[in-house]
Amino acid sequence: MAVKLAVEGVGKDFLIPVLDRVSFTVEAGEFLCLLGPNGCGKTTLLRIIGGLEPATRGRVLLDGQPVVADRRHDRKVGVVFQEDRLLPWLSLRQNVALVLKPLGLSAREREAAATRHLRVAGLAGFEDYYPSRVSGGMRQRAAIARALSVEPDVLLMDEPFGALDAQNRRIMQNEVRRIWRETGRTILFVTHSIEEAVAIGTTLAMLSARPARIREMIKNDGRVERAKLIDDLNTLIMEEVERQQGGAK
Ligand SMILES: Nc1ncnc2c1ncn2[C@@H]1O[C@H](COP(=O)(O)OP(=O)(O)O)[C@@H](O)[C@H]1O
Ligand SMILES: [Mg+2]
Repeated sequence: MAVKLAVEGVGKDFLIPVLDRVSFTVEAGEFLCLLGPNGCGKTTLLRIIGGLEPATRGRVLLDGQPVVADRRHDRKVGVVFQEDRLLPWLSLRQNVALVLKPLGLSAREREAAATRHLRVAGLAGFEDYYPSRVSGGMRQRAAIARALSVEPDVLLMDEPFGALDAQNRRIMQNEVRRIWRETGRTILFVTHSIEEAVAIGTTLAMLSARPARIREMIKNDGRVERAKLIDDLNTLIMEEVERQQGGAK
């Protein structure tokens, strides 16, 4: 399979070093879940991959082309955050259509594309609703539709269901799997929930304590029993959480 995304020796320093030579590749069509202790640098890594933040060291290649921060229109990345970031004065359809404006489509084409992607995200019939009139789960569906609407080379998701209740979270986990199967997109999904990662990812990447490196990369292909995988990952993450707390003292 073709390598879609290559993260090569990426390091990032803020006041403290946050990422330390993070390297991994993601194949086209893979669903990679990125795990790691709170505060280890997951969001920072996702922002660097999305070109929202420059790396201090190393580089990111998307389809072989370097991702350069501040040149976001050179490549197509869709991002879904924990908060839906919808504009409350626009309908769901208008919210999606808005991000298509820089792509040079006519108003009619933007509306049609928005309608199509809202349907993919399970929101057919709700296009004209305003964000405040729908549930949190539906707002995250609209945020997913918006991210998909630019036909992204890679879909980045940063704890997108973290603010949902357990039941909605379960529903959205199934939905994101369905959307992944139906669209064939390459997905990078950050979560600190091991259960969530094991439920949805094809590959699981565990980051170490800060400064983060790849601690473990596991294929989630059903060869290891799910309960054992969750157990093993819990052991790993507890080690890293302890290491991080030790380092912070
Ligand atoms: N813009 C920033 N300036 C300074 N420090 C930051 C900035 N963004 C993140 N950090 C720090 O980097 C570390 C990792 O943050 P983050 O990537 O948000 O972790 P995670 O998403 O894994 O919880 C934290 O210690 C955080 O305080
Ligand atoms: Mg984060």
